[in-house]
Amino acid sequence: MAAMWCPIIGLLLLLPLGPSSAIKFPLIGNIYPDGHFYATLQIGKPLKPYFLDIDTGSNLTWLECKHPDHGCNGCNQRTPHPYYKPAAHNLMVRCESWICAQLRKDQPGSPPCPNSDPHRCHYDIQYVSGRSKGDLANDMIFINRRDDMNYVFGCGYEQEEPLEQPSPPAVDGILGLGRGSVGFVAQLKAQEKIVRNVIGHCLSIHGNGNLYIGDFRLPPGDVTWAPMSTSLPYYSPGPATLLFDEQPIRGSPAFTTVFDSGATYTYMPGQIYNGLVSKVQDTLHKSSLKEVKDRALPQCWKGKMPFRSVDDVKNEFKPLSLKLTHARGTSSLDIPPENYLIVTKDGNACLAILDGSSDRVLRHLILIGDVTMQDLFVIYDNEVNRLGWVRAQCDRMQDLESVIIGSRL
Ligand SMILES: *[C@@H]1O[C@H](CO)[C@@H](O)[C@H](O)[C@H]1NC(C)=O
Repeated sequence: MAAMWCPIIGLLLLLPLGPSSAIKFPLIGNIYPDGHFYATLQIGKPLKPYFLDIDTGSNLTWLECKHPDHGCNGCNQRTPHPYYKPAAHNLMVRCESWICAQLRKDQPGSPPCPNSDPHRCHYDIQYVSGRSKGDLANDMIFINRRDDMNYVFGCGYEQEEPLEQPSPPAVDGILGLGRGSVGFVAQLKAQEKIVRNVIGHCLSIHGNGNLYIGDFRLPPGDVTWAPMSTSLPYYSPGPATLLFDEQPIRGSPAFTTVFDSGATYTYMPGQIYNGLVSKVQDTLHKSSLKEVKDRALPQCWKGKMPFRSVDDVKNEFKPLSLKLTHARGTSSLDIPPENYLIVTKDGNACLAILDGSSDRVLRHLILIGDVTMQDLFVIYDNEVNRLGWVRAQCDRMQDLESVIIGSRL
């Protein structure tokens, strides 16, 4: 079994770090059937590998964890690796410490630090779907051959699994890439492992991809930039309206847009979603496609023959785009059919945009998930608070190598 992980770890190409440097993590995963993209990180003493879902929608990294006092309540039974097992000293993160204070600041309503247990930092994170509770741990994390780093992350010993999971979750935890100081990149920068808090990801439409952190070179092509809102808890390039085949969807106002690599699919508020579905239905009326029920997603169509991939069916669907309005003017994010459709195991084509109206948070947002970010190089620049995107072929590794600036050591 151990040998199986070797090729994956071998792929973990980490460049030597210098004053101007970047770290690259190869990503494994796909939209369907897996529903996520993960990086492999080496954590603990001795170092052990863990698969972490990359999530730009949350700050805290956590691992499924066997806590020395609490065990592992409701941990996922099917993690790819044995649970992280901290020693008691790894869990000595004072509740009054700076990092714990930051974490608690992000969670309004945290109870005051308990006098009875001041050497513990408890967290409780509610996701759109699922929840993780645990204590902060401090342990080694492998960055490259020369640099190890102390890293503070969650030992998640009480989990509520997301209700709808595309398949057995093949990860050991979450890599929090949000802007917060408890985020992975903020901790790398605080320990001078990188100079700039900039994140880039390129998720390939054929599966896999890369995560870039630090001072990477931008990919070729014209990057579209939009200022990043700093008043929201997420990465947002501002409000947007949805266009269907270059026409606005009637009666749907602008909604705040959010980039979230932790979401598999894209979510739209009910008004936009319903408008979109009826537009799609209208255009498919004259085609040979018929609506069909598929377990994978709520809105699906079948053809005369099962589809093998989105390429077989994309010509039947119109392009979408988001028109963003912000302080610098307007920007546009194109969403061709391959960025909003998937083809299921049964060979049906399904809308990979979901109705967010039943969720308290999602019903006010256009949440751009992985499906819409495929083959798009997305840049989250926390240094100058801007977000950028440019079309890229994310499986062309050799082209993408040029985005990394070599170390100047
Ligand atoms: C992440 O951290 C930022 C900065 O502290 C904060 O504004 C935001 O609420 C946090 N996000 C979440 C989802 O907790």
